[in-house]
Amino acid sequence: ETVRLKNTGLRGVTVADSAISFIDGEKGILIYRGYRIEDLVAYSTFMETSYLLLFGTLPTPEQLDSFTQQVKAMRTLPGHVIDSMRLWPKNARPMDILQASVPLLSMTKDREEGDEPDRRICLECSIGLIARLPSLVAVWHRIRTGQPILEPDPNLDHAANFLWMLQGKKPDTATAGDLDICLILHADHTFNASTFAAREVVSTRASLYAGVSAALGALSGNLHGGANTKVMEMLIKLENEPDIEQWVAGQLRRGDRLMGMGHAIYKTGDPRVAFLKTMGKRLEKQTVTKWAAISERIEKAALALFAEQGKTTILPNVDFASAPVYHLMGIPTDLMTPVFAISRVAGWCAHIIEEQFADAQGKPALYRPQAQYVGEYCGPMGCEYVPMKTR
Ligand code: CMC
Repeated sequence: ETVRLKNTGLRGVTVADSAISFIDGEKGILIYRGYRIEDLVAYSTFMETSYLLLFGTLPTPEQLDSFTQQVKAMRTLPGHVIDSMRLWPKNARPMDILQASVPLLSMTKDREEGDEPDRRICLECSIGLIARLPSLVAVWHRIRTGQPILEPDPNLDHAANFLWMLQGKKPDTATAGDLDICLILHADHTFNASTFAAREVVSTRASLYAGVSAALGALSGNLHGGANTKVMEMLIKLENEPDIEQWVAGQLRRGDRLMGMGHAIYKTGDPRVAFLKTMGKRLEKQTVTKWAAISERIEKAALALFAEQGKTTILPNVDFASAPVYHLMGIPTDLMTPVFAISRVAGWCAHIIEEQFADAQGKPALYRPQAQYVGEYCGPMGCEYVPMKTR
């Protein structure tokens, strides 16, 4: 008799070589192209980090300037994308909007050409996507809320321009700088679900846009990028809850997952969390609600209950700490996962390009795993087909 497989979600399975990022889940280390996340947060910018991920080396000042100018020049959305968006239901989920919009971007002449991927064209398209994902999020938000669409401002850096196009006011330097750090922190993370989805799709020689669109679909799920929105919904629900500990206990007793807790790779702590917690505490100085205090109570109660079950590796993850930060920046709850996407698109594109030229001949190697068939098997000829009227 067939022994049924336990679906392990490919945990611990190494599927490909990659030179883009590295995680040590026991030591809590995250590295992009050889550089520690701590150093990138301290010294880099999201533009420089995107260049690093895409091209593999830190840029010279001239290279960074040219890259930044290219991104700025591509921020404006093609007219047909905006025209389409105006027809879409205003209450649609923003991640659906984003996933639907990316293929529309491939309909203009900056799309990839030819049957075989071309590295130069893929890089140009990647720069276009890094430039335009923030515009897609901001423009959709303006359309759905009936506000005028704002043109990108070439005088503003990447994060500041996004907040401007979204909120219609120029952010202060500190807020824009904090968002830039958030973008650095989320820019890549080895073979997470969305990146793997992107790589799998382009392994068929589908386009970079098809890969990014698939990645957006994967990111939208609550166990992945969708968790930050769920964390904020939980925090808002618990804002006036006197017995947070009771609520957490009830959640776990019912067998529900606590959003923002646990990680498939980090088992001693997620190195991105500390930066975000510090940022959150700084940002909330002026506000009435102390999200950090609510988060701490949730965390403390959850860790105590997990410990009772012997699950000491379930710790707060990046989404637990980023949600209140985005909230304090005025980012609507349902746009938190799209904000994750405007960062991760840099990593997705780097991985897509790596995948497209992956094998020894510089070609993608089509992903094609196997399944263990556990359905009916009536012999090599299959089961006898029973016509409808005799069933
Ligand atoms: N709340 C309650 N129980 C949990 C949680 C949680 N957040 N996370 C793991 N567990 C339990 C799970 O129920 C299972 O218990 P049992 O062995 O009794 O069935 C055990 O821990 C192992 O869970 P798993 O899903 O097999 O293990 P994992 O470590 O691979 O899970 C995870 C990783 C992210 C899917 C999971 O921790 C989770 O669902 N977390 C909540 C969603 C979340 O915050 N996702 C964001 C992940 S980080 C950034 C990102 O990718 O966007």
